[in-house]
Amino acid sequence: MTSDPLLALRPWEAPEVTSWGRLPMNAVDRRSGALPLDGDWRFQLLPAPDAPVSDVWTSSYVPGVWTMQGTDDLPQYTNVRMPFAEYPPHSPAANPTGVYERAVDVPADWAGRRIVLQVGAAESVLLVHVDGRPAGVSKDSHLAAEFDLTGLVRAGERALVRLTVVKWSDASHIEDQDQWWHGGVTRSVLLYATDPLHLADVTVRAGRYGDLRVDCRVRDAGGTLPAGWYVSGELDGHLLTQDTEFDRANADDDRVSDFLGEARLLTDVPDVRTWNAETPELYDLTVRLHRADGGVADASRHRVGFRDVEIVERDLLVNGERVFVRGVNRHDFHPLTGRTVSPGDLRADLVLLKRFGFNAIRTAHYPGDPALYDLADELGLYVVDEADIESHDHAHEIADDPRYLNAFVDRVSRMVLRDKNHPSVIVWSLGNESDYGANHDAAAGWVRRHDPTRPIQYEGAAKRGWADPHLASDIACPMYAPLEDCVAHALSGEQTKPLIQCEYSHAMGNSNGTLADHWAAIESTPGLQGGFIWEFWDHGILQRVSDGRPAGRAGAGLHDNGVAAPGHRWAYGGDFGETIHDGAFIADGVVFPDRTPKPVMYEHREIAAPVRLECFRHEGVVIGNHQHFRGLDWLAGEWELSLADGGVLTAPAKLPDLRPGETTAVPLPFELPRGGGEAWLTLRVTTADDEPWAPRGTVVCLPQVRLRAAAAAPGHSARAARGRPVEVDAEGLLVHPLLTSAPVLSLWRAPTDNDELGGAALRWRTWGLDTLVRKVVDVRQAAGRVTVHAEYAAEAGVVRHAQVFTPVEGGIHVEERAELPDALTDVARVGSVFETVAGLDLMEWYGQGPWESYPDRSFGAPVGHHRVAVAELFTPYLRPQESGGRHGVRHFTLSAPDATGLAVVLDEPRQVSVTRHRADDLTAVTHHDQLVPRAGCVVHLDAAHRGLGTASCGPDTSPSYLVTPGVHRWSWTLRAL
Ligand code: GAL
Ligand code: MG
Repeated sequence: MTSDPLLALRPWEAPEVTSWGRLPMNAVDRRSGALPLDGDWRFQLLPAPDAPVSDVWTSSYVPGVWTMQGTDDLPQYTNVRMPFAEYPPHSPAANPTGVYERAVDVPADWAGRRIVLQVGAAESVLLVHVDGRPAGVSKDSHLAAEFDLTGLVRAGERALVRLTVVKWSDASHIEDQDQWWHGGVTRSVLLYATDPLHLADVTVRAGRYGDLRVDCRVRDAGGTLPAGWYVSGELDGHLLTQDTEFDRANADDDRVSDFLGEARLLTDVPDVRTWNAETPELYDLTVRLHRADGGVADASRHRVGFRDVEIVERDLLVNGERVFVRGVNRHDFHPLTGRTVSPGDLRADLVLLKRFGFNAIRTAHYPGDPALYDLADELGLYVVDEADIESHDHAHEIADDPRYLNAFVDRVSRMVLRDKNHPSVIVWSLGNESDYGANHDAAAGWVRRHDPTRPIQYEGAAKRGWADPHLASDIACPMYAPLEDCVAHALSGEQTKPLIQCEYSHAMGNSNGTLADHWAAIESTPGLQGGFIWEFWDHGILQRVSDGRPAGRAGAGLHDNGVAAPGHRWAYGGDFGETIHDGAFIADGVVFPDRTPKPVMYEHREIAAPVRLECFRHEGVVIGNHQHFRGLDWLAGEWELSLADGGVLTAPAKLPDLRPGETTAVPLPFELPRGGGEAWLTLRVTTADDEPWAPRGTVVCLPQVRLRAAAAAPGHSARAARGRPVEVDAEGLLVHPLLTSAPVLSLWRAPTDNDELGGAALRWRTWGLDTLVRKVVDVRQAAGRVTVHAEYAAEAGVVRHAQVFTPVEGGIHVEERAELPDALTDVARVGSVFETVAGLDLMEWYGQGPWESYPDRSFGAPVGHHRVAVAELFTPYLRPQESGGRHGVRHFTLSAPDATGLAVVLDEPRQVSVTRHRADDLTAVTHHDQLVPRAGCVVHLDAAHRGLGTASCGPDTSPSYLVTPGVHRWSWTLRAL
């Protein structure tokens, strides 16, 4: 039996013990003047918390996780299931435990002061010793723990601080979030000193009418407060007034305490500049605590945003406005550190979100790094702040288990106490996927009493009834609810709460189909207000392929444009030798692990466009301001007219002076050139000046309207022209000098994650679509034309395919027809695939682009003339799958640097993909680094292509984006350049 009282407590298997010696949470900022303790600490990893500490030390960087820093305890990814078999509150006997030590020189001028250690976050149980004496215990991997070391250290002397971090505990069962498991000290450590008389907490309430109330709590380390203390406050240089009414009421009610001082400061700011996500106006507040002689004992600085949040009927209002919530779920993740994020990383994340039209973050599924909230205040993002509670694998057992009651209330209340002063935080969330029980109601009760200014949400409660008024959720916040259900609820007359999905549109692999349909419904259906895409990050860890180790901090720069450098890859579940894992389900973000945006980001940017081109009428184009608070004066515009025949005209655009919600017609900037052909007008909208999140000139959106439709499609039967005769081989396959593989029928794509997890891929395999066998039936030649009939035998029946090759001026016209039997109810595509000679490196096209787009994810890809290197057309999703498609392509060329190559003109806007990979190449590998590009291009021209949907977690694409059986026809012309 150990003699150490902290170890003897065995806090890792005692859910009732949430902490010992941990100070109450508060919102006083202690960073300035503190002694930072980040850096290398002596380190050893024990096999269990009660194993003896040896003399053998290595070192470990703090903040950081040891699982990414060269130990044999490597990252492990599980979604729902716990990585060990023990049931709550138990944890395994083999329990990696990191011991961190560091000598700290306590500044001599801290004599007589109160000295506090702050550990930013440790996962999951933290034991603190100073010079071998116990200082405290804390659990909760995503909030800071503070310990009063005044009695344990001496100013001017050296103290040995030991942090013992136990990886598995009773708390692991309520930290079962869908992410990597790590162990370590994940946020900064610091030591600070205060006067014995100090601000214990400061609570700021600032409303949209300029009303400011600051509540201060004051304590003295000696216990009894000295007589005559008082507080003062200054807001942007203006003094606040002491609320004497508050003092008198306290005195009358006999609430004045010798040990807890309370004071309230007030002011009214005339003509206040309110805070909202579009114009995040902040004021500087300094609160000072004075001794009787006027001397300043303590001070705290805050950035204040004046705003109100309220729910009125079924609308969530910010400053009285029903704002759309364009949110994303965000984990603290980094491909080199695992979990630790720097303020610079956080800024980069949030800046990117702002640039792509997001205005909200849910801190899935735990309170984020404190810097996140400062940045959200500054840059303008609404935050749903979520408590660190997810008991997914044992949800039902824990939700009502009184042993965990303390932990639930502790985690929720500490989050609220920490983050209550941030204007960005508009909703508190009680956690995620933990069923619903009395423990949640207890936590909700605490919040309602403590902070009546913000609504509460909790998906586990909401799912018991979206309209049930008794539950611990003020918002109907389902996850992955079918759009039809949301719309039906809003139209039912039963709706009582705002409907904002806490998770929707699962971004795993090539995904987020129907996002624009969601938003069309949200914007047109009162009661629907938005949601949070799942999720921001692909959590791929940069891994050395040679030894399977995380590259760690040394991996900086070893990636480009979403791709890991040679010899490296983005690791997902199972890549560190784990036997229990959930594979690539961890790669489900809108950005790659290095924060490179995926194509869906452009889709989102356009969906969120602040400026819209509503339509084209005789009097001109109707422009609308689709913001909630801002005019258009912060934006600049340029018109671009794009003509199918290759012409592009540009002209400067002056954006009209429109208030939010207003529209106006402006005259057409161009005289439409005569002649046939499509014409598309794009308004290229950029920032007119530097914004905190974007330099001047950053693209904000590219709204577009069609001014003229295409002339009637060319007739199906092209007239044979003189020229090179069509040549086919004995199998009826086209022989052409530019093609290394003749056009054949394609009904299959390399399954996306949605196809795999949603079941479509299994059906396709069962039907034999991945192994179609072509058999030529007959080949006929007449009037220079060659007609080939072929059959493709699948398990589900025979697909008949006909091709008619007609020589035309400079090339060949190809007409195709495929007839799918009724059994093939839902195929990936119907189209042609062929391969080209090597050296064609550049694709130029007229159609949607430039980024990847698919039938149900094509809203954000404007029609125009685009030009992209073939190598860059392909999107390197972590698990290789169908990618690189372009929707609505009318014609394209593939060319070599010497301008030779081929041109294809399609009968209609079609889905086209040009990559260096066959579908089979993509399915043969598990990671992007294993792909070997082919020398030539693999070209798909699709008469029809299935939507992407989001079936890896949530609804599949809608029926209108399915490829159905029956007859499909398409035609195209191939020419040499
Ligand atoms: C949700 C869950 C998330 C994540 C997502 C799937 O059920 O809340 O944490 O697991 O599904 O990626
Ligand atoms: Mg979960």
